[in-house]
Amino acid sequence: MPESTMIRFLQLLPQVSPKGEFLLKDLPGSGKRIDVLCRGLAACFEWAPMTWPKSSLEMIAIIGGTKILRFKEPANQKFEGELEWAIAIKDSLRGEPSGFITVATGTLEDVIQELNKPPVSALWVLDEKGSKLSEVPDVHSAPQNSFMLGDHRGFDSQTMDVISKYKIPKISLGRKSYLSSHCLAAIISEFERTVR
Ligand SMILES: C[S@@+](CC[C@H](N)C(=O)[O-])C[C@H]1O[C@@H](n2cnc3c(N)ncnc32)[C@H](O)[C@@H]1O
Repeated sequence: MPESTMIRFLQLLPQVSPKGEFLLKDLPGSGKRIDVLCRGLAACFEWAPMTWPKSSLEMIAIIGGTKILRFKEPANQKFEGELEWAIAIKDSLRGEPSGFITVATGTLEDVIQELNKPPVSALWVLDEKGSKLSEVPDVHSAPQNSFMLGDHRGFDSQTMDVISKYKIPKISLGRKSYLSSHCLAAIISEFERTVR
């Protein structure tokens, strides 16, 4: 098992404005469910890891199909709750990212081509109808593992076509549909239990 395993989450938010045009007081409505990403970030960098080093976690968000935000551990800044993450996302999309966030222009296919490089970097889709996590032996073996998450509606048909084109394996955490922040926490917990 590689000691320096990196876990990445790839959150797709095709409905969200890539210009950061949303109200901080109405993240789900005006933000077209930007709250999903805020909660995912809070899970990833605030409350989910118990033993897993936050420096070995990354979150990538594809916003509106065109903007790619990458989040590393905000080591010198303490974030608490959805609103603080929403402010950081908005500033980034408006051209003023904090040091731990990078912003680029690109598509889902660009990100897939970067992350889907087995055996070094494995990419998985989190999907209720996929194979059971416990029955996928390879999931912990790559030095880098990335997990793709849909928004509140799951994956749109264009995304499903791309997933099929690249034959990205689907992993299920059970037949019930969970919040993506819950899925992210479950994956971190699974790695904490099985990898180190
Ligand atoms: C809130 S769920 C999506 C809603 C629901 N799947 C739908 O289409 O109505 C957000 C994302 O979390 C992930 N997810 C939710 N439950 C899951 C499960 N039981 N197993 C694997 N992934 C799951 C999937 O990536 C899903 O797209």
